[in-house]
Amino acid sequence: MNEQQFISSDFSILSQPLSVGWQSPSNIALIKYWGKTGIQIPKNASLSFTLSQCATDTSIVFSPLSKPTRSVDFVLIFDKKKNTDFRPKMIDFFERISDYCPYLRHYHLEICSSNSFPHSSGIASSASAMSALALCIMELEQHQQPAMSELYFKQKASFLARLGSGSACRSIEGPLVGWGTHPRITNSSDLYGVVHSDSVHPIFASYRDTVLLVDRGQKEVSSTLGHNLMNGHPFSEQRFLQAQDNLAELVTALAEGDVNTFVRIVELEALTLHAMMMTSDPSFVLMKPNTLHIIQAVRVYRKETGIPLCFTLDAGANVHLLYPNENAEKVMDWIENEWASYCQNHQYIHDRVGNGAKKM
Ligand code: PMV
Repeated sequence: MNEQQFISSDFSILSQPLSVGWQSPSNIALIKYWGKTGIQIPKNASLSFTLSQCATDTSIVFSPLSKPTRSVDFVLIFDKKKNTDFRPKMIDFFERISDYCPYLRHYHLEICSSNSFPHSSGIASSASAMSALALCIMELEQHQQPAMSELYFKQKASFLARLGSGSACRSIEGPLVGWGTHPRITNSSDLYGVVHSDSVHPIFASYRDTVLLVDRGQKEVSSTLGHNLMNGHPFSEQRFLQAQDNLAELVTALAEGDVNTFVRIVELEALTLHAMMMTSDPSFVLMKPNTLHIIQAVRVYRKETGIPLCFTLDAGANVHLLYPNENAEKVMDWIENEWASYCQNHQYIHDRVGNGAKKM
């Protein structure tokens, strides 16, 4: 697939309003995407677990207009209230996808959205929000072109989501999604995410992710700024090569059920992401003291119990704890007894690997 194939040129505008809805999950990268070129083309391939509890619900009513507008005509209701804060980001998104979805200018869009996880929790919501939005748009496109294949539907949904927020392209399906060209991910592409379809050991199919909300504040550095800091970064070229190698090694570990290699690579990826930010100019330290406390305790806990608990981080202070389902009871007790007090307002979210977005 190339970009041209996602241009919708043959469509017929519906005569009646259409109401659609999708619930789309967040995802957590095991191999991190950090650094891009052009419009969200990744500098290295990434691989993520799709989550299930942390999700965005979006519904859209598309009402046909008598004549097309110059830009997409929409209103956004977020958490039951009319929202203007996200409007600039949405305007940019609609502008970016306008060549691929020219039919959107023939409708008024009433978009209602809400997140299942606490608002301003510090959990990145752009992946779930942008993928839910892209899926709603694709459902309209499918009504206009009923012969569309399921493969095209998913690929274009991921392609559109990527134009909103790179990592969002990994939220359409699950449980493991790769994005970015890589020899170890079958049919991989820089344009959209694909399900990692090679054999994966059953231990990883039911993995748990508990997100410890260490800091609920606003993101200190936007992802756009963060990605840009990789341009001209003294270590970036080496980092992009390292990510490709780490992904290859992780794919083997996933197939073999090698949890020790999984732990090593996943933690290395998280710390490298932060190391890149700490060594950029300007530099950013996005961990908080409690992030480090938790990281150190995870390593001690692993040594003492033999349970392959590991951590990963996004571009912020919150910690994702990853562990096999069979260890869930013990790890959850430990979290509740030891770590709840380190989280802001005692907040953490128990999540698990999921299979992707659902139609509502
Ligand atoms: O999708 P963006 O542009 O917000 O970038 C997200 C990057 C990380 O979350 C830090 C890593 C990743 O691969 O998800």
